[in-house]
Amino acid sequence: MSRPLRETDGPCHVAIIMDGNGRWATQKGRPRLFGHHAGARRVREIVEACPDAGVKYLTIFAFSTENWKRTQVEVAGLMSLFRRYIMKEMQAFVKENVRVRFIGDRPRLDAKLRGLMDEAERMTGHCTGTNLTIALNYGGRDEVARATQRLAQDVADGKLHPDDVNEETLPRYLDTHVLPDPDLVIRTSGEARISNFLLWQSAYAEYEFVDTLWPDFSAEEFAALCGAYGKRDRRFGAVGR
Ligand code: FPP
Repeated sequence: MSRPLRETDGPCHVAIIMDGNGRWATQKGRPRLFGHHAGARRVREIVEACPDAGVKYLTIFAFSTENWKRTQVEVAGLMSLFRRYIMKEMQAFVKENVRVRFIGDRPRLDAKLRGLMDEAERMTGHCTGTNLTIALNYGGRDEVARATQRLAQDVADGKLHPDDVNEETLPRYLDTHVLPDPDLVIRTSGEARISNFLLWQSAYAEYEFVDTLWPDFSAEEFAALCGAYGKRDRRFGAVGR
């Protein structure tokens, strides 16, 4: 069973760019995929840390629309890791009351993986604890382009008037339409960029760039970042108190 969410000033929705698997493996003289496997094991620990940190939504960047440019060996290894991960972890997520969703462009993914993603969403559809969203073949610009295509179709079909296209209606077409915007975006491995992650949704997010490589990122560091978030003064463009 999932633990009740703690009442904190922490972020409700944390999004993470899990970076540094390759460097972590290289530092150990191992192939990059070794780092990705170690990175996958970290995910569970961070998901389990969410209730105590007051985090209700966790969104993780697992594979970007740009990651296809990596070697065929690395891409195939990652796809195989995602398939095995879903098969292995889903029962545990159901038990822990974690609701799993995927965002990103699915048609380019292989049929077996797509089937497992559908199955994971179906199996955890009733779960009411942490909401884990896995971004797989995801790119912020690609998401906005796909959303715009669907929106344009609705306008062409007379279901939406052009005057009604605004900041309220457009996000309904995004992959994230059922999620709140992220409050805090964390990127590991010392890189300070957002790499096409949740571009629309993160307009007012707070950012934390930490040096830790993703396979070394701990529940303690996650909790500390969520705690520090509670001390920030978010003004959303208004004047401070
Ligand atoms: C970035 O590190 C990481 C990725 C592109 C893959 C992320 C995947 C995982 C953390 C593991 C699997 C996740 C799930 C949900 C099963 P990098 O390879 O760019 O590292 P580098 O910058 O050091 O080369």
